[in-house]
Amino acid sequence: MSLFYKAGTSLLRSLPAERAHKTTIKALRAGLGPKAPASMGAALATKVGGLSLPNPVGLAAGFDKDCDVPDAMLAAGFGFVECGTVTPKPQAGNPKPRLFRLSEDAAVINRMGFNNGGLDHFEGRLKARQGKSGIVGANLGANKDSTDRVADYVTGLERLWGLSDYFTINISSPNTPGLRDLQAKDAMDELLGRINEARAALAGDKPSYPIFLKVAPDLESAQIERIVEQARTYGMNAIIVSNTTIARPDSLQSAHKGEGGGLSGQPLFEKSTEILAEFYAASNGTIDLIGVGGIGSGAQAYAKIRAGASAIQLYSALVYQGPALVQEINRDLLARLKADGFETIAQAVGRG
Ligand SMILES: Cc1cc2nc3c(=O)[nH]c(=O)nc-3n(C[C@H](O)[C@H](O)[C@H](O)COP(=O)(O)O)c2cc1C
Repeated sequence: MSLFYKAGTSLLRSLPAERAHKTTIKALRAGLGPKAPASMGAALATKVGGLSLPNPVGLAAGFDKDCDVPDAMLAAGFGFVECGTVTPKPQAGNPKPRLFRLSEDAAVINRMGFNNGGLDHFEGRLKARQGKSGIVGANLGANKDSTDRVADYVTGLERLWGLSDYFTINISSPNTPGLRDLQAKDAMDELLGRINEARAALAGDKPSYPIFLKVAPDLESAQIERIVEQARTYGMNAIIVSNTTIARPDSLQSAHKGEGGGLSGQPLFEKSTEILAEFYAASNGTIDLIGVGGIGSGAQAYAKIRAGASAIQLYSALVYQGPALVQEINRDLLARLKADGFETIAQAVGRG
């Protein structure tokens, strides 16, 4: 990766966090993004929840909330891109400042609150890229003021069916009050039941698009087992583990550590990987997992795969390391697979 992008990343880090993000999206829209191949060898190809990916490294939700730059991110080497979270109506999100870099901790705290342009804009963006290659998913959420949150997810599914390669039901963001309560048993029964009805009606006699469930890292073992059971009962195709945490580890050094919101980046790695391993143990390989949380190196991506992930996603490390990281991780993964005698990602999944 050229010095140009390294310099760009440092320059962006000198701006306030949210302004830097806006500037990045603008630059990407203008075609100034970096280029790296998505296919770097057959060993990196992987399958997750029915999707075939050229490499296992995905862009996590929240970077491209409005689906403005999925193709630029695919061109930067990501194996798949998750846009969103999108809510039916546009909403402004929480008051600023709401995004904080914890540089000393290689972490981020955000309490954005699903700021996004709504389904009209998102649908238009997906329509504009119809026919293009590369896997792009839609992460669905509910409006803060919604009186029927389940209906919001169903609306997202209905509006984007046929346009998005997969869907993620996000019930794990800490910044929409009460959203994570949808992880409780009865709420999940209602949510996944209604989603399943909608999906059956939308698919008809055609194959359904994959639907994934994204969970929080702040879960007890009993909850994990129950969530796996329900995800299987309702035919979810994969579970994304995990979203940001509301916990604040004692190790945090940065002045911003007391800000409210979800913590991501390095301090999330250990916890989210432990939870991922618990999901793998509970599911016994019967439902695919996507590992997210604190990945900033090939070693960490590989640790997620060995803990049970068939694919991974990242966001926060991009803030510190820039987009060159994607190709670096893929190169490193290739070397690690080879060193351990694995010919495919699938062979390494869940090997501990
Ligand atoms: C600024 C920011 C915004 C985010 N927005 C969303 C979102 O809208 N929907 C979602 O499911 N996750 C969102 N996330 C969570 C990420 O997708 C990811 O699960 C989490 O940050 C852990 O990965 P990381 O440590 O690689 O960042 C956001 C994360 C950050 C840092």
